Amino acid sequence: MIPISKPLIGEAEKKAVLEVLESGMLVQGRRVAQLEERFAEVCGTRYAVATSSGTTALHLALIAHGIGPGDEVITTPFTFIATVNAILFVGAQPVFVDVEEESFNIDPSLIEAAVTPRTQAIIPVHLYGYPCDMDAVIETAGRHNLALIEDAAQAIGATYKGRPVGSFGTGCFSLYATKNVPAGEGGMITTDNEALADRCRLLRSHGMRRRYHYEFMGYNFRMTDLHAAIALAQTDRLEEFTAKRRANAAYLSAHITSVVTPQVREGYGHVWHQYTVRVDGGRDRDAAVCSLHEAGVGTGIFYPAPAHQHDYIRNLVGQVSLPMAERLAQEVISLPVHPGLSQADLEQIVEAVNRL
Ligand SMILES: Cc1ncc(COP(=O)(O)O)c(C=O)c1O
Repeated sequence: MIPISKPLIGEAEKKAVLEVLESGMLVQGRRVAQLEERFAEVCGTRYAVATSSGTTALHLALIAHGIGPGDEVITTPFTFIATVNAILFVGAQPVFVDVEEESFNIDPSLIEAAVTPRTQAIIPVHLYGYPCDMDAVIETAGRHNLALIEDAAQAIGATYKGRPVGSFGTGCFSLYATKNVPAGEGGMITTDNEALADRCRLLRSHGMRRRYHYEFMGYNFRMTDLHAAIALAQTDRLEEFTAKRRANAAYLSAHITSVVTPQVREGYGHVWHQYTVRVDGGRDRDAAVCSLHEAGVGTGIFYPAPAHQHDYIRNLVGQVSLPMAERLAQEVISLPVHPGLSQADLEQIVEAVNRL
């Protein structure tokens, strides 16, 4: 089976981990600081703060922006559940805005209508590695003085009009095992705001600046140096891997004819964390997935239900109708696009998909 994702771990990663093990500094050594510098470079931000996961990055960013009980945070329902859980962790209320058919991302033309006097922040998600329409999101955020927290968990290296995602607002990234820069587990917050970066740094380690002096209540959301070492070695190969993902996506789009393939707008630098097609028109997605598996092609459904349809979230936000997210959740199938694919793999994927 061609897997839907496959981290390419080589000698550099093994050597980097061994070096950390031998250094005796498994946490709070040099590697985390070096990784933060690299992320700030890649994202074009002044600061980057490493965390234990993408989820804790979002959680910290929300706390650092002062979001809490009584506040509303606008986001997309078509995302990994961590985006929404982070809002719930701080006691705020998620307010869902439907997505665009073409981009799978939050529909900026619908945001304005969701703003209330309680709205404090917007979390756009650059789903599958494809940037949101940031001009429109920034415009609305600016007009209502809202914090902008980008969920760029899937989108390291993606650009919007030449500018890296994670540099428009407070960026939150994931370094989970299947992400474009995998560390196993890990996260990163990017920002140009010195005070916000400082607050995130303190919050991730019990509010401690000087040893055993606590400025406020914090958490243990630290990244280990073992994870940072893997991520550093992977970041060295990010450009190469992204180029391969783009070439793979271009091949799939040029040859797949049986289903709706993803579109990329002018000025949007997609990094293809996922290559997601749609089985539209009421066709049977389960049957399509079965047939792909029989042909040896691994698939992913990201995500089978939008966030507002999970019972515990429905109980909190009530019954809402978001027809596009609901429809897309029924239609999407992600196909392998990772840099480990061979030409033979690509041909096998195309053949299996075009037989649907
Ligand atoms: C869109 C999105 N947000 C947040 C996260 C959370 O990241 P992590 O799994 O590193 O906690 C993920 C990871 O899957 C994600 O895809």
